[in-house]
Amino acid sequence: MKKILSVKNLSVSFDTYNAEVKAVRDVSFDLHERETLAIVGESGSGKSVTAQSVMRLIPMPPGKFVNGSIVFDGEDLTEKSEKQMESIRGKEIGMIFQDPMTSLNPTMTIGKQIAEGLIKHQNMSKQEAHNRGVELLKLVGIPTPEKRIDQYPHEFSGGMRQRAMIAIALACNPKILIADEPTTALDVTIQAQILDLMKELQKETGTAIILITHDLGVVANAANRVAVMYGGKIVETGSVDEIFYNPKHPYTWGLLGSMPKLDQQGEELQAIPGSPPDLADPPKGCPFAARCPYAMKACGTQMPAYYELSDTQKTACWLLDERAPKVEPPEFVNVGGAKVNG
Ligand SMILES: Nc1ncnc2c1ncn2[C@@H]1O[C@H](COP(=O)(O)OP(=O)(O)OP(=O)(O)O)[C@@H](O)[C@H]1O
Ligand SMILES: [Mg+2]
Repeated sequence: MKKILSVKNLSVSFDTYNAEVKAVRDVSFDLHERETLAIVGESGSGKSVTAQSVMRLIPMPPGKFVNGSIVFDGEDLTEKSEKQMESIRGKEIGMIFQDPMTSLNPTMTIGKQIAEGLIKHQNMSKQEAHNRGVELLKLVGIPTPEKRIDQYPHEFSGGMRQRAMIAIALACNPKILIADEPTTALDVTIQAQILDLMKELQKETGTAIILITHDLGVVANAANRVAVMYGGKIVETGSVDEIFYNPKHPYTWGLLGSMPKLDQQGEELQAIPGSPPDLADPPKGCPFAARCPYAMKACGTQMPAYYELSDTQKTACWLLDERAPKVEPPEFVNVGGAKVNG
């Protein structure tokens, strides 16, 4: 499949009063047409900063690109002017957020908000944009769209707002859709509906999706590939099957261990003890070393390189060095426990 986005060695920092917070450190990944790449990891691991960097939504200052490139359509987005980004944002790359209330404009009807992009990027007339808006609302499953299109966000339920945001994000057929915790604020049934909707729309339009979530159940259902982030770095990446059935990084094991098993309900979940590193003063070695039960001397002093386990799976862990002791995932790890792509 064709590669449409290539992030290489991206480092993003924030200059704060006390220190430089190194939020994203040397992150590389590719995104292909029609695929869904999930980015998972604990709070503060750099998922949103990575996604917002692609959209160039990082406030600068205090944020800054320290290193690396984000190549989309052959051009490096880190070098684009704000004006150039305006013709990419919403048109080529759409984004939906966790809380639609913060990104929908409360003073504007849903219809006007859908129409904005269509008028700006696709030269539609007001009437054409209105008609397309009705179609889009229907497409995302909003009943009586002719009536709903003239309503304001507060007249929509949470799930409907999220659907409306998807309609806005997809209005101009973007090549990439970035969804940052798109279902976290919704209850479980609505969550599943929204994810199904995204999958369906992806089938129709071929949009590639970057899906940010801390919910591995969502990953198993919606993603093709996974990047596991920790302490501003991608520590492991692989196909969904590789991450669920053959995870190699102890942090991935920890995440899988903290996920409920399908067959054993009521069993206690294993939280990963300890807390993430201080990104103002990140560790020299592996960011997970301080919490890793298998940490060796090298882990604290030197960041491991990526070991290539297959064409798709790469893991940055010293345990994969041939000199390291052989370690298997602990029993509590729910390897393959989630129904992958079910
Ligand atoms: N404007 C900012 N100024 C300073 N630090 C920031 C800013 N925005 C983000 N950070 C820091 O960057 C790091 C990564 O944050 P990010 O929002 O990407 O985490 P996340 O993985 O999305 O977490 P969550 O799951 O909670 O959304 C955090 O340490 C955060 O405090
Ligand atoms: Mg986030």
